[in-house]
Amino acid sequence: MIRGLHPSFRDVLARGGLVKVAGAHNALGAVLAERAGFHAVWSSSFEVSAARCLPDASLLTMTDYLEAAVHMQRAVGVPVVADCDSGFGNELNFAHLVHEYEASGITAVCVEDKLFPKMNSFVGEDQRLVDAEVFARRIAVAKQAQRGEDFLVIARTEAFIAGLGLEEALRRCHTYADAGADAVLVHSKQSTEVEVAAFLARWVRDVPVAVVPTTYPAWHAEDAHRAGAAIVIYANQGLRAQVLALRHTFGEIVRAGHTAGVESGIATLDDIFTLQGLEAWRKLAR
Ligand code: SPV
Ligand code: MG
Repeated sequence: MIRGLHPSFRDVLARGGLVKVAGAHNALGAVLAERAGFHAVWSSSFEVSAARCLPDASLLTMTDYLEAAVHMQRAVGVPVVADCDSGFGNELNFAHLVHEYEASGITAVCVEDKLFPKMNSFVGEDQRLVDAEVFARRIAVAKQAQRGEDFLVIARTEAFIAGLGLEEALRRCHTYADAGADAVLVHSKQSTEVEVAAFLARWVRDVPVAVVPTTYPAWHAEDAHRAGAAIVIYANQGLRAQVLALRHTFGEIVRAGHTAGVESGIATLDDIFTLQGLEAWRKLAR
């Protein structure tokens, strides 16, 4: 077996304890996240777009995002949670995305209540949401569309991102949970965890909550768990690490005129061979 089978994200959640998830945009990043000990991989629309040097603004299609998520899922033995932006359209698009992702072996998708086309949550102030009842209907259709019991739909509210406050964030997530969402994600762009923690303090439903501590980086995972979060997603730190590493290494090579100075700070070829699973492939050829 070259690639491992993976549990569903529902299985991972059912184990209990905080589920730690790392963002990635390709199989290599997903494998590194798994090897670091993450329980799942977030197929990030921000990362997948950035990897093509495009803004996270609904420019790529569902097919692009699905392909990226499937590449990651095939490479790892942990589940991939596919960030499906605002679901690529209306309830028909929600049904279609569930059919396609589920049939491709993805066990969890996340859809957010922003208007299509969306813009990344950290860009600008003009973040508009769809009506909560319209979005809830789409969630209900998504849940009807899945074939198996395992598939998991995370409903994400951008209420805080749009500046709508705690009551609206709670109202939306209750509405989505009533519509059948298996989990909710509450996103925030504040520089502290205060508004997300306030949400968690008021959340009494038996529906797990995911948080994304990007702009409040000092929030310890265990504190997030104690506050009530079931899932913590480190959505883009891997991508940002890669940018600095590449910029430094390429810059040094151009500056020095040789690569001796960067050797100790870059992966060995053997390291890459291992990540490629080369030994298993060589056995196949024997
Ligand atoms: C992503 O990683 O694509 C996300 C999280 O959706 S954020 O970029 O913070 O909106
Ligand atoms: Mg995204």
